[in-house]
Amino acid sequence: MKKIICKTYEEMSAEAAFIIANQVRTKPDSVLGLATGSTPIGTYKRLAEEHKKTGLDFSQVKTFNLDEYYPIKRDNRQSYRYFMDENLFSHVNIPPSNVNIPDGECSAPEKECSDYDSGLNKAGGTDLQLLGIGNNGHIAFIEPGENLPLATGLVELTQDTITANSRFFEKEEDVPKKAISMGLSGIMGSKHILLLISGKAKATVVKELFSGKVTTQIPATLLNLHPNVTVILDEEAAGLL
Ligand code: GLP
Repeated sequence: MKKIICKTYEEMSAEAAFIIANQVRTKPDSVLGLATGSTPIGTYKRLAEEHKKTGLDFSQVKTFNLDEYYPIKRDNRQSYRYFMDENLFSHVNIPPSNVNIPDGECSAPEKECSDYDSGLNKAGGTDLQLLGIGNNGHIAFIEPGENLPLATGLVELTQDTITANSRFFEKEEDVPKKAISMGLSGIMGSKHILLLISGKAKATVVKELFSGKVTTQIPATLLNLHPNVTVILDEEAAGLL
């Protein structure tokens, strides 16, 4: 894994936006895997600025988001659909039909999941997959466990994740207990994985990530098996390396 340590969150975001913008310029019909959470917000802000200032063109780009809470209404401010519209899609010229996010309102989640993987495979997988990481080492909503899912599926969130993500909700009880998450095949099938990590709270998991071992108890460690991963960290996240 290639490691880039930046001084601040802003530098990390600028570096990530530079890599993504370059991907889109080099291949205008790129398939991008996108992530939510607080970490990529600065990156999306810079991509939106890049579109405004230089006309960075998203008209042929296709996107597949990693995950969505289940069940959740699209117009719920905490849905990942809402997040993506708010932070990126409403600021760039991507056609809505090119955007793929698991549907938190679907009535048949199993079908939704298999359709999602079919769409991803039909698109040829992602050229670049943007990732964040949970404090417990989850990627997307692939939670620690003995077995990790290969396919997109409906997953139970761990208490750790529910507690961590409750900061966005009014109260912890409002956090959905389940989510639809891309599986490891979708993520590891990407040509280039770009993992962003920021803040002191992630320093312990970062140490595990670079420990030279892989374990399903820290799903992100499996990224060590991928041939083309770039990890961009800020100094706080890299504090224990
Ligand atoms: C959520 C998302 C992950 C994300 C993680 C970390 O659980 N499903 O994709 O990486 O949060 O979020 P943050 O960047 O806010 O720490």
